[in-house]
Amino acid sequence: MAAVRLFLLSLFVFCLRTNPSHAIGEDVHLIDFKESLKDSSPLDSSWIKGSNPCDAKKPWQGIDCSDTGSQAVSAILLMNRGLSGAGPELDIDALSKLGSLRFLSLENNSFSGPLPEFNQLSSLRSLFLSGNQFSGEIPQGYFDKMGSLKKLHLARNKFTGPIPGSLTKLSNLMEMWLQENEFSGPVPSFEQKSLQSIDLSNNKLQGEIPQSMSRFPASVFQGNADVCGAVISKQCQAAEAPASGTPDDKSKESHKSGALTKWVILAVVVTVLLVTILFKAKKKEENFRVLGKENLDDVVQVRVASINRRTGSSIRRTGSYNETGSQSSRRGGAAGGKSPNDLVVINEEKGVFGLPDLMKAAAEVLGSGGLGSSYKAIMANGMTVVVKRMRDMNKLNRDAFETEIRKLGRIRHRNVLPPLAYHYRKEEKLLVTEFVPKGSLLFLLHGDRGVAHSELNWPTRLKIIKGMARGMGFLHTEFASYDLPHGNLKSSNILLSPGYEPLLTDYALYSLISNTQSVQVLFAYKSPEAVLYQQLSPKSDVYCLGIVILEIMTGKFPSQYLNNQKGGTDVVQWARQSISEGRVAELIDPEIANGSSSSLDQMENMLQIGAMCTESDHESRIEMREAIRSIEEIQV
Ligand SMILES: *[C@@H]1O[C@H](CO)[C@@H](O)[C@H](O)[C@H]1NC(C)=O
Ligand SMILES: *[C@@H]1O[C@H](CO)[C@@H](O)[C@H](O)[C@H]1NC(C)=O
Ligand SMILES: *[C@@H]1O[C@H](CO)[C@@H](O)[C@H](O)[C@H]1NC(C)=O
Repeated sequence: MAAVRLFLLSLFVFCLRTNPSHAIGEDVHLIDFKESLKDSSPLDSSWIKGSNPCDAKKPWQGIDCSDTGSQAVSAILLMNRGLSGAGPELDIDALSKLGSLRFLSLENNSFSGPLPEFNQLSSLRSLFLSGNQFSGEIPQGYFDKMGSLKKLHLARNKFTGPIPGSLTKLSNLMEMWLQENEFSGPVPSFEQKSLQSIDLSNNKLQGEIPQSMSRFPASVFQGNADVCGAVISKQCQAAEAPASGTPDDKSKESHKSGALTKWVILAVVVTVLLVTILFKAKKKEENFRVLGKENLDDVVQVRVASINRRTGSSIRRTGSYNETGSQSSRRGGAAGGKSPNDLVVINEEKGVFGLPDLMKAAAEVLGSGGLGSSYKAIMANGMTVVVKRMRDMNKLNRDAFETEIRKLGRIRHRNVLPPLAYHYRKEEKLLVTEFVPKGSLLFLLHGDRGVAHSELNWPTRLKIIKGMARGMGFLHTEFASYDLPHGNLKSSNILLSPGYEPLLTDYALYSLISNTQSVQVLFAYKSPEAVLYQQLSPKSDVYCLGIVILEIMTGKFPSQYLNNQKGGTDVVQWARQSISEGRVAELIDPEIANGSSSSLDQMENMLQIGAMCTESDHESRIEMREAIRSIEEIQV
């Protein structure tokens, strides 16, 4: 019975994870796109009709696939391939049939002509077209329907005309690189909180830079001869001021047409706003945004659907799990490890429950990380847990697995989140942990900055770093004999309690995962010694700790988290350089950099610790104990 239900559950989860479109037939769309190129010969050898673009053994060049559910094309990465073609001839229609496509790069090729309708690809997160010959004006409303766009690189092309106003409405935009084009007209006011990196340099922009842009450094505007304003410390000429003396006829005329343009723009803006609001309101109802664990670009947008809608109304948060657990849950728990198909509760502090309770729970997909996909389940008794389906955890047999997981379940520390239960079958493993409502540090730092960011002041960040260090200290004592006591420390694995107390998860899994899998899913394998010499030690954890410290202090998304290193900020290199040049202060996240001078000193000290932890030579990198001691010395 339980097995059948689990199968049903798996099926549900599978359905939830599956995108509307399947990989089946995606080869046809890619081939259609290829055939619209002027010269497709660089792709001919691997893009073969009838074969699977996501085939692990013979992948198509430049194609990346999502690794959840049905394999589907998620990224097209055709940089530096000598490709060419005229914008309007590219078959974007074909690409729009790839339902999981999130990332498109045609960087450094020879595409030319007007920008084709990439805006049909409304789910795109990253569009990289820098280093081509695209030209002409981009329509003002071009980006209206690209609300998911996070990164837009159009640098080193020949675009002319004004910067499209629709860009200012993209509420998820993080990076916008428009440098080295011929954009003209005024600098629009970009007020999105999400926007972290822009470059408008070397264009033909004119007029006063809006005060709202003062959060960006002056360098992003350089090479535009006719811009002015306080932002770049260049006074605008009196003639441009509205209160100027007696304008001659010509400028009167331009004033008049200027006013007309203003009205037109206003009308367009209002329409765009209305459409955006309607669009958004509709979308909010059915979509739930979560951050992917491996890559911000891989953020998965999933539909909230309850596995059992009928229980939806009966969900209560009673808070006293011990009394509300159903008969079946007690039996499920009591059965312990006896029944091979049930859930084994290893930590009863939060209550006892069984697989039937989980299966009756309302579930939401949270996302998919390196270790597998996870979802949130609200059980009928009000208890909310996170269930992770672990892929490839067959290094140990059942007994050894159980021993290991029980060890993890026994540990108690304020900053470590132990698993509550597990389910083991050869083909399926589930790990259940408590649900922590505030979510991960990754999400708080880089997700919806508007919501959480103001709360992440310096004292809170320091609290998070100290809690993280204490949790690491504990793990390094508890699992002192392990090569990697944690092994997977990164901001997506640090959850935050309502009081911003950090809770480490996904630790000490090294012994459960096969070696080949570890390389792909454990962040410690990104430490220089692992990359260069396949050497791992507790000091690899120190490196990961350093990355998170630099991430928290700079507020930047570390490129180290990405597999392709394209995107994010290389925080290690940046810290190293700024420190060696005596410019530590510029590393500090502007959001916290307005503190008193004594706390600025403390912030600089913390950055120094981050840099010491990420020292690339692991022999001279500091030990965990030393790192923790230095962190404890830092005061608000
Ligand atoms: C494209 O070319 C520029 C300049 O030559 C270079 O800086 C950049 O790294 C290249 N991009 C890629 C993805 O290779
Ligand atoms: C349930 O837990 C509460 C404290 O959380 C305790 O006071 C109560 O006695 C428990 N009830 C039972 C039946 O164990
Ligand atoms: C610093 O700036 C943040 C937001 O920019 C603000 O919330 C905070 O109050 C400021 N702190 C001080 C000391 O000015």
